[in-house]
Amino acid sequence: MSNPAPAARPAVPPLDLLVIGSGVAGLSAAVRAAEVHGLQVGVLTKGELEQGSTRWAQGGVAAVLDTDPDSTDLHLADTLAAGSGLCDREAVRVLVEEGPARVNELIAMGAVFDRDPDGRLQLAREGGHSLARVVHAGGAATGAEVERALVVAVRDTAAALLERWFAFDLIVREGRCAGVRALAPTGEVVEVAARNVLLATGGAGQLFSVTTNPAEVTGDGIAMALRAGVAVADLEFMQFHPTALHSSAMPRPLLTEALRGHGALIRDIRGERFVDELQPRDVVSRAITTQMLADGTDHVWLDATGLEQFGDRFPTIAAALADAGLDPATDLLPIAPAAHYLSGGAVTDLRGATSLPGLWAAGETSCTGVHGANRLASNSLLEGMVFGPRVIEAIADGSEGPEPTGAMRAVLEPDADDEVAAITLPPGPRPVPGPLSARSSRSASRHAQQLMFTEKAGVLRTAESLRAAHAISFAHREEIGPPTTPEAWELANLCDVGCALALAALVREESRGAHTRADFPDRDDTRFRARLVHR
Ligand code: FAD
Ligand code: SIN
Repeated sequence: MSNPAPAARPAVPPLDLLVIGSGVAGLSAAVRAAEVHGLQVGVLTKGELEQGSTRWAQGGVAAVLDTDPDSTDLHLADTLAAGSGLCDREAVRVLVEEGPARVNELIAMGAVFDRDPDGRLQLAREGGHSLARVVHAGGAATGAEVERALVVAVRDTAAALLERWFAFDLIVREGRCAGVRALAPTGEVVEVAARNVLLATGGAGQLFSVTTNPAEVTGDGIAMALRAGVAVADLEFMQFHPTALHSSAMPRPLLTEALRGHGALIRDIRGERFVDELQPRDVVSRAITTQMLADGTDHVWLDATGLEQFGDRFPTIAAALADAGLDPATDLLPIAPAAHYLSGGAVTDLRGATSLPGLWAAGETSCTGVHGANRLASNSLLEGMVFGPRVIEAIADGSEGPEPTGAMRAVLEPDADDEVAAITLPPGPRPVPGPLSARSSRSASRHAQQLMFTEKAGVLRTAESLRAAHAISFAHREEIGPPTTPEAWELANLCDVGCALALAALVREESRGAHTRADFPDRDDTRFRARLVHR
């Protein structure tokens, strides 16, 4: 499926590491590689350095920075509970133990987090957390500050910064990843060679027409991995954030979970409460969707009227609401769930190695096993900050291939894990056998694909809807043919990832975490305490 045009060579120095993507995961890795180990690092990214989900992150970073009364054991327990039986305990242990040091390094690098008048970091509580442990910046503008600090550092240290370059395929030579094929800003196809490649291309929220994710989040790295036969898992666990502002904006403005941590309530269309607001977000999103269906409405309400000093604590949210003509002191805020975070991706071991030697993955593109079936709020920035740098330590140690640790055990030792088993799915898009009630509109466009996917593979799924989601994604992909522009590649990637997600969701005949099957409403630990791996 590679672009057939001849590939040119770019004028970049020989690279020890090529990082694809410039969010928290890619930049945390790039800065460490250059600063601590003196590696020659290139960062290739399809937009400006600042683009990606990271800069939009609101609530904060979950990390135990104050051990009274909190502890990493409690953070671990909350993460495992949110993950509904599919987290890799070792990976979560790494996340919670190493997270605080990574946050402190970011602060030393210049990131400014919110503090009390006495100088202590302010800690917020979010859904699924048993205590307040989320550090934040600018009220609810944490990602912008994290990204700002990392961009400053990487501009000082990287050997090459390739902005507005679009990676579309992995180069695999003699069983090893040797670089990527990319479209240069000129539109020319270029081969960028590197001894190691780190996929840090973020998630795939743009699969859906209702999402909090910016336009560039199109699953490119996961699609590249799928096309190269790299093991990919947990794709069925797309997390829907419960409190996106109900509006026609795309992406949907997010009303941070920290609002509920501060006491905001969720009310149905009659003004009645119907869910415990501080449960993990899969539970809250499901309750909202069920309530909307029962009431025949397209939204419920977030009631923040009781929150004091809203504008001081959440200035960016207050501004977004004012733009929408809403005053949180007096108005109920219309909300509905929106696609937000992909828990799965390219399977890695505990040091970020994928199943293809020379290829590493970190951040939302990866499946380290820390999120299981549902990510705990504010564990994502943390994952990028912890596992991006781990890749660099592995490369610096001369590590070559994956080891049977973390989620990689499901690939290398599928029968050895006594907690989470593995089920292997076919690697590439292909038709799913069985009856079909829907066909492709034969009008492949991003919007058509997104609308279809939201309807058929959204919060509530059935075998029938998922077969249709798969078949239409497959037909759209065939209709696109060999892409030649970034826009066409993005749509192709959405279709490839859509096929794989729909297939996994079809095979998983149970409801668990962020994956809800209306036709299989119960969790089934006998058949499905397992990672579904595309190979
Ligand atoms: P990203 O930050 O998405 O970066 C991916 C990079 O890859 C981008 O630079 C992109 O341009 C580049 N790229 C993609 N494809 C290609 C390609 N083909 N070629 C070249 N470059 C490519 N998480 C939290 O922990 N706390 C929060 O408070 C929080 N709030 C959030 C609020 C919103 C509105 C959103 C959308 C997400 C939020 N999240 C939060 C989730 C979190 O922001 C993301 O999961 C995280 O930032 C992902 O980081 P990343 O480095 O993996 O990917
Ligand atoms: C939010 O602020 O609600 C988003 C937090 C997250 O996605 O982790």
